[in-house]
Amino acid sequence: MNRRNRTLRKSPAIRELVAETTITPNDFIVPLFVTEGKNVKEEISSMPNYYRLSLDNLKTEINELWSLGLKSVLLFVKVPDSLKDENCSEALNKNGLMVRAIQTVKETQPEIFVMTDVALDPFSPHGHDGLVKGYEILNDETVKVLAEMSVLHASAGADFVAPSDMMDGRVKAIRSALELNGFTKTGILSYSAKYASCFYGPFRDALDSAPGFGDKKTYQMDYRNRTEAIKEVLDDVNEGADIVMVKPAGAYLDIIREVKNTVNIPVAAYQVSGEYAMIKAASQRGWLNEQAAIIESLTAIKRAGADLIASYFAKDFVRR
Ligand code: PBG
Repeated sequence: MNRRNRTLRKSPAIRELVAETTITPNDFIVPLFVTEGKNVKEEISSMPNYYRLSLDNLKTEINELWSLGLKSVLLFVKVPDSLKDENCSEALNKNGLMVRAIQTVKETQPEIFVMTDVALDPFSPHGHDGLVKGYEILNDETVKVLAEMSVLHASAGADFVAPSDMMDGRVKAIRSALELNGFTKTGILSYSAKYASCFYGPFRDALDSAPGFGDKKTYQMDYRNRTEAIKEVLDDVNEGADIVMVKPAGAYLDIIREVKNTVNIPVAAYQVSGEYAMIKAASQRGWLNEQAAIIESLTAIKRAGADLIASYFAKDFVRR
């Protein structure tokens, strides 16, 4: 033998020396679910040990994240049914929960990086990401609302907006609206290659936002497609996205790599609620070693090419 490959695996020291992939707290975006009320910390039934937080508890959480070295968050709001309507008007409420959540985070820890979800599903009685007419999800009408919503989030102090809706042309519209309104320092993290996936199930429990009719396949991508992901990503780059995202992550590592090889801006991946739930459920039964599964799944996402990772495991990962 000219060379024995096991030489580089002989001891922990040499394995550390030649390891190609490392994850640090800097790599994470922490998704947070915000709800109305006081002192609310509700566990999400399909996401063990993950919670919806009222604004007071959001402060506590932000302080904890900051002390762990986790410096960016992605905010989602759970809107009461009574505030959901066909026009998704609550999405544009200047004193709505998202606005107050952004302000709360910034008051608590001004340096933490705040990204906000931009889509209409939490505000719609139908649970769809856009405005609905009959059974159709309207594109251009939705894009207008998303652009206004983005300006509202920016004015409340959001550093980045993160459109997760998959309407066509929304990145361009959001960018123009931000420029027109003077928000020249607000960035856009676009969910560019977002697939219509069963792995979002637990998230829809968290926000009570499961679609009331049909599914999301007329706007989210078909998981049989890879080339189409590149088209979506390049469109968003041209429209002015600062960061593009692939979602979900674990079952889409090939897409992450392909996107990473294609663009010259940072690539994010979202390890979604169903990925979290699978690892949690199997670990609770003793069928998987939880810590090992967390580290392996996150490392695979990073190795595939993700520069940053949105994950419900961020805190678990950093703590160990
Ligand atoms: C909705 C949105 C979803 C997620 C993020 N934003 C769900 C969906 O598209 O139905 C999923 C996140 C997760 O599952 O963790 N705009």
